[in-house]
Amino acid sequence: MSETIVSRLKEHRTFAPSAEFSAAARVTSHEAYAALYAQSLEAPEEFWRQQTTDIVWRKTWDTFCEWNLPHAKFFVGAKLNVTETCLDRHLTTSARTRAAIVWEGEPGDVRTLTYFELHREVVRFAAALADLGVVAGDRVAIYLGMIPEAAIAMLACARLGAAHSVVFGGFSAEALRDRINDCQAKVLITQDGAYRRGSVVPLKQMADKALLETPSIEKVIVHRRMDDGRAPVTMHEGRDVWWSDALSRPASEQSMGLARRPDAFDAEHPLFILYTSGSTGKPKGVLHTTAGYLAGAHVTTKYIFDVKDSDLYWCTADVGWVTGHSYIVYGPLSVGAACMMYEGAPNFPDWSRFWSIIERHGVSILYTAPTAIRAFIRAGDEWPNKHDLSSLRLLGSVGEPINPEAWVWYHTVVGKGRCPIVDTWWQTETGSVMLTTLPGASYSKPGATGLPFFGVEIEVVKDDGAKVAAGDGGKLVIKRPWPSMARTLFRDDERYKQAYWSQIPGVYFTGDGARCDSDGYFWVVGRIDDVLNVAGHRIGTAEIESALASHPSVAEAAAVGKPDELKGQALVVFVTLKSGQVASKALKDALAVHIDKEIGKFARPDQIRFADALPKTRSGKIMRRLLKEIASGTAQGDTSTLEDLGVLASLRASDED
Ligand code: WTA
Repeated sequence: MSETIVSRLKEHRTFAPSAEFSAAARVTSHEAYAALYAQSLEAPEEFWRQQTTDIVWRKTWDTFCEWNLPHAKFFVGAKLNVTETCLDRHLTTSARTRAAIVWEGEPGDVRTLTYFELHREVVRFAAALADLGVVAGDRVAIYLGMIPEAAIAMLACARLGAAHSVVFGGFSAEALRDRINDCQAKVLITQDGAYRRGSVVPLKQMADKALLETPSIEKVIVHRRMDDGRAPVTMHEGRDVWWSDALSRPASEQSMGLARRPDAFDAEHPLFILYTSGSTGKPKGVLHTTAGYLAGAHVTTKYIFDVKDSDLYWCTADVGWVTGHSYIVYGPLSVGAACMMYEGAPNFPDWSRFWSIIERHGVSILYTAPTAIRAFIRAGDEWPNKHDLSSLRLLGSVGEPINPEAWVWYHTVVGKGRCPIVDTWWQTETGSVMLTTLPGASYSKPGATGLPFFGVEIEVVKDDGAKVAAGDGGKLVIKRPWPSMARTLFRDDERYKQAYWSQIPGVYFTGDGARCDSDGYFWVVGRIDDVLNVAGHRIGTAEIESALASHPSVAEAAAVGKPDELKGQALVVFVTLKSGQVASKALKDALAVHIDKEIGKFARPDQIRFADALPKTRSGKIMRRLLKEIASGTAQGDTSTLEDLGVLASLRASDED
């Protein structure tokens, strides 16, 4: 599509929800949204009191917010157990027999857990964890694929007040080890193997490698997913326990009592840690706490996905990322939604898989990522067109900017022009959605994320913190604390301050660039810090660089992003070798495998380019901007600060395969 058409699309086309959709929605008009938004900023305590009546508070709060920059506390003095809102409260309503999770395995097996059954499983597993010594305040690492046990394990930890740290199953043994060691997890929960695109990812074997160097781990619980010996497992005597064995022993009376009638925790009790990429090589342990996080996940799910008892809601993210935490587990279960969950790849056995799931199960709300949408566009309309998608009524997008072409395709080919699309902007650190359009209330503009969610005071500013004019680009910042915000980085307050609160005084800097148009719609451009967004995965350039620098042949490495039609951004690395090392195809392959091992296959560079030297300023800083331009083939920028002009010619000539 030409630039002009794209910009015309961007500026002029708007898509309003149908009158029928709006009439049945929670918020039925733009005016109603604006009124609630105004209330959420002007009378926040009243707003949150009214909006959290479905949360099971064992004790209500004394103070709504205590703000001591950059540290916030919300619902101060309240006591609750998150799982009572997500599970117990549904046992006395019609949700008791509703499917909490309709799960489909990649090979095609299907399991359904009603709210009654999910509650029962969580109670049993929490009792087993308690018997293994897990107590409130502990950390538990979870390294599982997309199986119901992931939700059960997370909720069982929450029930006991132990913070979970879910590590995405695509991470390598080394990455798992570092995350376990950083949070000093006491227990690891994993599985023998996970299905992925027809093959088996041997999670327990990978975990075993990590476990050689994780002294804090006392017990490992292993769920058996494979019944055909495709992922053989060695159980370490005294340390490793099969999930089924842990459940089959009668739990002690004390543990069972605790699991059945769980303790209530302080509003600010840690709920989970989730590692994410930042601007240094070391991942950041984002810490979320109990009440504020739950309130954010609950209220956003209720309004943005507008979930009704008749819906089957499907978020296609992985539980290993924040979207899986907030919008597969805590948010949807807190509103009693029936949730679809799928184990495998979108193109297994072919590109029909998502559409066939929607057709067979009757999915009505689909929440997925632009990178998946672009892959579906490339695969061809014949795949969705072969299926009856008439059950769909609402579509969502998350993880990266959705380009107008992908938006229009999603709306037309998947939604048949009937379904509103909610584009949702947020981050691991924000805990829940910050920008979107409520589906029955406001029109959407393809490519724009939309308007601030309730309680979110957000702006585009210059470096000095001054607001830019409508339509101008700048840094996206959030100007007041919100309940589901990260409280700190685990045991690293200093880095928390430095990473989010030091760039622009007094406000939270998101790391994203954006503009806000004259209608108040936000257009998020993407990261402007040293973080890349490759196929919706957040990857720190420093992480890649330090992984490469740990390879014996590498002298120095620089990682940059370049625009990619499918993945949004592709990862390009420039590598200089130690003297005596020879650039070769074999070495390139070895470096790719090295990244698989240090981080995970999903972080494999799209291009590895050898260079004699990296472009540096006279003060020795790598000129990333220049590398970015070289990677995208647009290099013509200012090279006046470049120390050695000869470097440029050699970089341009570097092999581009
Ligand atoms: C990007 C994922 C544009 C953004 C929930 C952000 C988006 C980063 C959108 C956070 C969107 C997420 N439009 N960009 N709708 N959603 N992003 O922590 O750059 O994995 O800062 O959280 O993804 O990624 P994270």
